[in-house]
Amino acid sequence: MQKRESLYNSSLGLELTLRPLVSEDLPRMLDIEHQGHSHPWAEGVFLDCFKPSYRLWGACLDDLLVGYAVVTYILDEVHLLNLCVHPDARGHGAGKRLLRHLVAEALRESMNQVLLEVRQSNSVACKLYRKEGFEEIGRRPQYYPASSGREDARIMSLLIQP
Ligand SMILES: CC(C)(COP(=O)(O)OP(=O)(O)OC[C@H]1O[C@@H](n2cnc3c(N)ncnc32)[C@H](O)[C@@H]1OP(=O)(O)O)[C@@H](O)C(=O)NCCC(=O)NCCS
Repeated sequence: MQKRESLYNSSLGLELTLRPLVSEDLPRMLDIEHQGHSHPWAEGVFLDCFKPSYRLWGACLDDLLVGYAVVTYILDEVHLLNLCVHPDARGHGAGKRLLRHLVAEALRESMNQVLLEVRQSNSVACKLYRKEGFEEIGRRPQYYPASSGREDARIMSLLIQP
């Protein structure tokens, strides 16, 4: 993949756009997933998400997928299951754009709350969520596998009633 600087060189006219993902995006999603997460999802987990109660959003620089968000709708709640941006594309607003987009879509579809779990050590993601208005509402002890043992999850929530 091109380096971050060239990807975002405005003189190339590259623009970040968001679109729904389709199963043909899976190879690129898996590539990003393996570079982005210490404990990546398997292909089958992504395949299970191409169903009506899920929404999958991609962030693209021109035609190149650089990040995605996966959510599931349960009653009036939206559960953010995965948010990942390619390491070479981070720090340029793709994560924030994806998060704002999924919240806007949730509001448009009359959902009331967005919920997520995040590793307690994931300070970058926690900062993003807090800045976007999410609040910690609880913990799940030992929820995630970690390099040595297990790690707690913070449960975070954003109320989005109009
Ligand atoms: C979390 C993640 C999605 C953020 O994506 P990103 O495109 O780099 O984020 P953005 O550029 O949109 O930045 C959004 C906010 O995140 C925070 N942030 C981003 N990079 C940061 C860094 N290096 N240090 C601290 N905070 C940072 C800031 O609050 C930033 O807002 P600001 O630019 O107004 O200060 C990305 O780091 C990632 O994919 N991480 C690995 C997967 C992961 O942890 N997913 C979340 C699981 S719950």
